[in-house]
Amino acid sequence: MSRRTDTMELGACTKNPGFQDVEDDGPPSDPCRPDPADKQDSIGVRLDPDAAEEYTQIKPYAGMPKEVLLLYSTQARYRVPREILFWLIVACTLVLVALTITVIALSPRCLSWWQISPVYQVYPRSFKDSDGDGVGDLKGIQEQLDHFQYLNIKSVWISPFYRSPMKDFGYDVEDFMDIDPLFGTMHDFENLLAEMHQRGMKMIMDFIPNHTSDQHRWFNLSRTGHPQYKDYYIWTDCNASDPKPNNWVSVFGNSSWTYDDVRGQCYLHQFLKEQPDLNFRNPNVREEMMDVIRFWLEKGVDGFRMDAVKHILEAAHLRDEPQVDPKKPPESITSEWDLYHDYTTSQLGLHDLLREWRAAMDVYSREPGRYRFMVTESYDYQEIEKTMMYYGTPQVKESDFPFNFYLLDLPQNTSGLWVKHLVHLWIANMPKGRWPNWVVGNHDRPRIGSSAGPTYVRVINMLLLTLPGTPTTYYGEEIGMENINVTQSQIQDPAGKYNASASRDPQRSPMQWSEDINAGFNSKTNITWLPLHPDYKTVNVEIQKKDESSVLAQYRYLNTLRESELILQRGWFCYIHADASIFSYLREMDGLNKAFLVVLNFGQDSVITDLSSVQELPDQLKVVMSTNQINNGKILQKSRIQTEAGEGLLIQFHTNTRFNPIHSEQCYISEKACYLGVMDILYKC
Ligand code: GLC
Ligand code: MG
Repeated sequence: MSRRTDTMELGACTKNPGFQDVEDDGPPSDPCRPDPADKQDSIGVRLDPDAAEEYTQIKPYAGMPKEVLLLYSTQARYRVPREILFWLIVACTLVLVALTITVIALSPRCLSWWQISPVYQVYPRSFKDSDGDGVGDLKGIQEQLDHFQYLNIKSVWISPFYRSPMKDFGYDVEDFMDIDPLFGTMHDFENLLAEMHQRGMKMIMDFIPNHTSDQHRWFNLSRTGHPQYKDYYIWTDCNASDPKPNNWVSVFGNSSWTYDDVRGQCYLHQFLKEQPDLNFRNPNVREEMMDVIRFWLEKGVDGFRMDAVKHILEAAHLRDEPQVDPKKPPESITSEWDLYHDYTTSQLGLHDLLREWRAAMDVYSREPGRYRFMVTESYDYQEIEKTMMYYGTPQVKESDFPFNFYLLDLPQNTSGLWVKHLVHLWIANMPKGRWPNWVVGNHDRPRIGSSAGPTYVRVINMLLLTLPGTPTTYYGEEIGMENINVTQSQIQDPAGKYNASASRDPQRSPMQWSEDINAGFNSKTNITWLPLHPDYKTVNVEIQKKDESSVLAQYRYLNTLRESELILQRGWFCYIHADASIFSYLREMDGLNKAFLVVLNFGQDSVITDLSSVQELPDQLKVVMSTNQINNGKILQKSRIQTEAGEGLLIQFHTNTRFNPIHSEQCYISEKACYLGVMDILYKC
């Protein structure tokens, strides 16, 4: 049977091509083959008039041939809906594209990793000693990565671990491209970095541009007058018996000049004599240090803490600096506080250097998620405008933020007004739209738990974790570690050897992990490079993990909340109240009816605060978290908010009235964003 018989009988030439016999080439006289002479209709379909008439008898059906299809498709009742649909699809596509572009244009910038997590500072000598030599090391840090994960900390700054004679415990670098054996090997470093990245953590390293160790190869070549290296440091002629070409003094005390008998000249050192200052006016030095930056960026480091930046350049004329007290005999000028540092700090050209480094870091920041972060260290004390310059300008980027050290002065006067003053110092002076940050401790300053007193440890942590901006946490602050007492004979710090009261050893004692031998800092030996704090049996990570009212538990709670709450991350910050005891502020976001009120008691007494004049607050307020655990969940009247000395309250409330529009002079925001509940989006506003 021919396959042609399978063709549906629709009339002559009305067959479904889908059923045609492929072997049938079709005779030349095939009546179905259109005659080229046939008349063409308006859409180019040639129709046999008889057949057309026949087609009109048929209804459209599935699998109909082109001719039938075309016949019907030209009819208005089919064409019009088709055209409507077509234009509808075009319009929808255009609307979608436009919407996407609008959403992208209206979305605020995503916060970067260095804004989301606190920066946790590890002092590697003191964090965890894996090999039992009494000094912490890189493997030790790797062993304790769970601790950061537990605290929800993603950014870890590790103080220097370069090869070093350790005169200033790593801040005297002998080789910028090697690891000190005390801390481990390059392999240990790479392992640590890889595991940190795997766990979603970022590593910030110290970059120490101002000086090297006197054991650095460059210094040895410089003192012997090697033509390429002779100007790598700052040398000048001086008198061997009284080597003071001018009155400049070192940060650690006494003249900043030392006579070198190999070269027969004096070299400058703004820190120890074992830390000669590099000469950044020499382009080769600049190139070498740029190579150092690139070397670590290539290795995958996520950021740098730029050490002692204000000291990088000195005036070439080497004139005496003005004395603070002009009547003081010049020979009694021995401390950095005796002089105005007009010629040894913040010299012209400094910011150009930092900008060059920033630009190099930007080259490595292009890959998504690989932003390289820069923070600068500069103590400018009363000259806050100098600090703010490290933020760069809207056109030229510099550091992501300069460290804000003003809260280090908190213990000078524990009062609400004082804390507000210190906070406002930064907020009021920071260039518009930049990101704040807060430091209450580091390896150079007494622990806040000792200087402010243990009463205030928790409230200070609450302050840090609820202010806008990035908090810095020095290791041990999350458990409330305190300074140790170091006797004269135990002093390790060179600064302490010059002046015992300036010793930084007390804040560098081993991390208190548990009540085990050596507080779990190490277990294989009885040595620790500095004594442990005697309170380690009660103040340690292990014990505090089991206690939900501990300093650690509260730190963890607040940090986790900070990460999950848009309002705490990027909402408005508004001053509500400050007095001798209380500092209180609000965090809110336009578009959200949820808000947080923070009430912190920095005073010495229990007080009742009346916030009834703040109309935007509801009458009843619920405490989400108090540093005094028994107050968690309490409902308070806004007219009677009671706090003990050192107590902090985090209050959450709901309202339809925002505080910031009416009190804009009391409010600050880094980069404004609003929340749209309907579509669950955040947008620029
Ligand atoms: C920075 C460091 C400090 C060090 C000094 C010299 O201030 O924080 O510890 O002694 O620079 O490098
Ligand atoms: Mg210098």
